[in-house]
Amino acid sequence: MDISTLQKIRYAYRPKLPQVLRRPIDTIMPLPGEKTQSVGDQKQIQQLFPHTYGMCKMVIGEGRNPLGDRKRNIAVILSGGQAPGGHNVIAGLYDAMKAANKESKLYGFLGGPSGITSDSYIEITEDLLANYRNTGGFDIIGSGRTKLETEEQFKLCTKVCKSHDISAIVIIGGDDSNTNAAVLAEYFARTNGGIQVIGCPKTIDGDLKNENIEISFGFDTATKTYSEAIGNIERDANSAKKYWHFIKLMGRSASHIALECALETQPNVTLISEEIEENRESLTKVVSSIADVVAKRAEQGNNFGVVLVPEGLVEFIPEMRDLIEELNDLLSNEAASYAKCTEDAERFSFISGHLSVGSTSVFNVLPTSIRKQLLMDRDPHGNVQVSRIETEKLLSEMVGIELEKRKKAGTYCGTYSSQTHFFGYEGRCAFPSNFDADYCYCLGYNALLLIASGVSGYMSSITHLHAGVDNWQAGGIPITMMLNMENRNGAMKPVIRKALVDLKGRPFGYFAAHRALWAEKTSFTNPGPIQYWGPTEVCDRTTFTLALEQSN
Ligand code: FBP
Repeated sequence: MDISTLQKIRYAYRPKLPQVLRRPIDTIMPLPGEKTQSVGDQKQIQQLFPHTYGMCKMVIGEGRNPLGDRKRNIAVILSGGQAPGGHNVIAGLYDAMKAANKESKLYGFLGGPSGITSDSYIEITEDLLANYRNTGGFDIIGSGRTKLETEEQFKLCTKVCKSHDISAIVIIGGDDSNTNAAVLAEYFARTNGGIQVIGCPKTIDGDLKNENIEISFGFDTATKTYSEAIGNIERDANSAKKYWHFIKLMGRSASHIALECALETQPNVTLISEEIEENRESLTKVVSSIADVVAKRAEQGNNFGVVLVPEGLVEFIPEMRDLIEELNDLLSNEAASYAKCTEDAERFSFISGHLSVGSTSVFNVLPTSIRKQLLMDRDPHGNVQVSRIETEKLLSEMVGIELEKRKKAGTYCGTYSSQTHFFGYEGRCAFPSNFDADYCYCLGYNALLLIASGVSGYMSSITHLHAGVDNWQAGGIPITMMLNMENRNGAMKPVIRKALVDLKGRPFGYFAAHRALWAEKTSFTNPGPIQYWGPTEVCDRTTFTLALEQSN
């Protein structure tokens, strides 16, 4: 395969390790810290996870681990959506394994969790890894979203792992995949399977975080990639002065990506789903607030601007959320009858006939394209596939209609012409920033130390990320401490609680304090592309979100 010059040079980048992980590997030892409990529904989570509930956090320190240099066969899977840095987690894990014992073997199950049950794998070797170090993508072994939940699947996992003498699995994934990891760890503990499970926090969405997981990997690179493109569009808008650009940004439920990109690029409007939900804003209200900004800027002769729209917005507008919840239950409970409908018109009338009066009227006024998108299949974890709902088009059209109404009523609104964009997949496989390259390598390296200490059902945790790589701390947290009960596909299930944008947090506070100015006065900033070489304040800079969250 031909490779780019950048790719060739990035292969040679040596990710930085913090001091605590830089010592000889046989002198590093995870030590038990404080005991934990789940973030919610403690009683139910304890009942569902009797063997892995309430374990202690682990803190990496100094010490001699008698089992540290044992020969091990370990497996790794990449699970869920791609995020820059996944290859480096595998590289860190591999290097730590080989540093501990050259005879150890790393198996990569192919295509996500289903690779374990179907026993499709490759052995990860130095030669193979050499073509993937510091590159984006998950293509070394592929990824998938299969949910592991049945006794049959778990038995197969045990059988396959035993057949390769695999004693530990590292699951690199987001909230749903790490929920999988917790369930699998509990199963192995209950059945004395002798197989450890360690998770690594991945997702560009940034919604897998807490005091021990300060950021999920990929968020840094993805937001920088989107911000570069948004900055370019802003410059284009300010040059041509004729379009309003509506840009939908990935992030599924949470608006962390939209917020971070807003802090980076200072667009005129950024919608934050969590705030819209808190204020119980209707779709009409959201549209009207954007139209207010368009009209205000038109008064100053500025018939252009940029609006950022978080991907999951529709699930946070109260009337839309009620509709989606009803649709989720309906499509799952009435799946057989619904499947008999063959035409769109038939489907729509089936749906309208089964929804509440309120949801029927919301559903019926939506454009046909959006109604179809709301009925698309849910993912295997029961999530609406929000990346396929064209909210940016819905909003740009509705704002146009609202402005026409205002014009007819005599209000000056200037000229309005819009363009729509969706940035999502463009950022998920970018070359990892130096931050993600280092962070991911450390997550993988640290995962081996947790395995060597014998724990299972833990997530690899690297903290103090504001303090520079040298001072990063390492440890592990029980995944059960992140669980609570939620309704999925009409049934209550244990799942990792998503971290949504904190409306009392500093990143949102900074944005809220500046947005009125950004709305009226063109204040665009163009952060430019990710830099890999050059001044450290440019190349190792992480996100505004992390910097603001960790500022004193
Ligand atoms: P993960 O939570 O698995 O990391 O995936 C996140 C994500 O990138 C979302 O932002 C997006 O809604 C979704 O994946 C898209 O999924 P798919 O790749 O299946 O289209």
